[in-house]
Amino acid sequence: MTRCLVLLSPSANHVYVGQSPQLSAAELALTCPAIGPIEPTSLAGVEYLALETADLDDATLAGISGASATMACFALEGDLLRPVELPRVDLLDDDLVTIPKYQGKTNEQFTRLLLNVTVAALRGGPAARRDAGERLAVLDPMCGRGTTLATCWLAGHNAYGVDDDVRALEAMAAHLSTWLRRKRLKHSAGSSKFRRDGRTLGKRFDAEVRLPGLAPLTLAALPGDTRDSAELWGRKTFDAIVTDAPYGIVHGAHTESGPHRSPASLLAEAIPVWAGQLRRGGALGLSWNTHGLAREDLLAMMAEAGLVPQDGPEWSHFSHRVDSSIQRDLAVALRPVDAG
Ligand SMILES: C[S@@+](CC[C@H](N)C(=O)[O-])C[C@H]1O[C@@H](n2cnc3c(N)ncnc32)[C@H](O)[C@@H]1O
Repeated sequence: MTRCLVLLSPSANHVYVGQSPQLSAAELALTCPAIGPIEPTSLAGVEYLALETADLDDATLAGISGASATMACFALEGDLLRPVELPRVDLLDDDLVTIPKYQGKTNEQFTRLLLNVTVAALRGGPAARRDAGERLAVLDPMCGRGTTLATCWLAGHNAYGVDDDVRALEAMAAHLSTWLRRKRLKHSAGSSKFRRDGRTLGKRFDAEVRLPGLAPLTLAALPGDTRDSAELWGRKTFDAIVTDAPYGIVHGAHTESGPHRSPASLLAEAIPVWAGQLRRGGALGLSWNTHGLAREDLLAMMAEAGLVPQDGPEWSHFSHRVDSSIQRDLAVALRPVDAG
């Protein structure tokens, strides 16, 4: 047995107001099943996550390295800490995600956590593709300025988005195009008219980056209402759908009757649409403000849409305070492998 201490990035505590050890422990428990008990611990006044593993093999090291808040890892040898070199798992520099700053942005670390636990839950064909290191197709159907999409690229997934805020899509396109140019990566990126049924619905944005020796990474974002996502994407299906729902405060849910304080009605209409866009064995990972919608009501919506919510004790540690008006939680539900 190797006992390790994982040092968490100090910035994670800004996001979770002191709850980052608990959240990171819950994340690692789901994403690295080979790791034994994971507990927050303090050594010489510094907080770590203590964990045990039979073998620090490549998969375990990659899991620790790719966790949302990992800064460094040490093996505990007697009283001494031996630094453990973690492999670089991200395909791109993280400033792709950290440079944009704007109101309504979903925190980068939390976005990575939500993506990680959603991808870890995949079954069937999507899980086989994940385990073979193939590119997954991940949709954020309320993508805003693209934090999830950029996080997907870092993690090696193809990214697809929808948002009805045309300005948000334009800002994402501008940032991504500039970033790709500045990094001197081989790429294509551009906006073009998006037409459906003979009507122009706005501009879509498409980008591709070609890294040496690797399959290209693609990204596409469409303008439109998330409840029309299936029509917008046509027959395309996704391995995972990952989204941070409107909190009903700063970024209201957009419905015909104007911004709603609670995103509940929007989610009730959108979840069945998203469920139909998932491949068998695919997973929907959603974060939302529990002040507007109780966890059991959200899980009931997911079940009603034919998905299987993941609801064991290991899923019960993610609720955390963002500010006085937002208590955020996450939920993941699977499209059964034998779904009709
Ligand atoms: C919490 S924000 C997501 C922010 C995003 N993760 C980011 O970091 O930029 C929720 C997003 O939902 C979008 N939204 C709300 N109602 C929508 C609807 N009916 N159709 C499409 N997008 C919607 C908003 O425009 C907003 O970008």
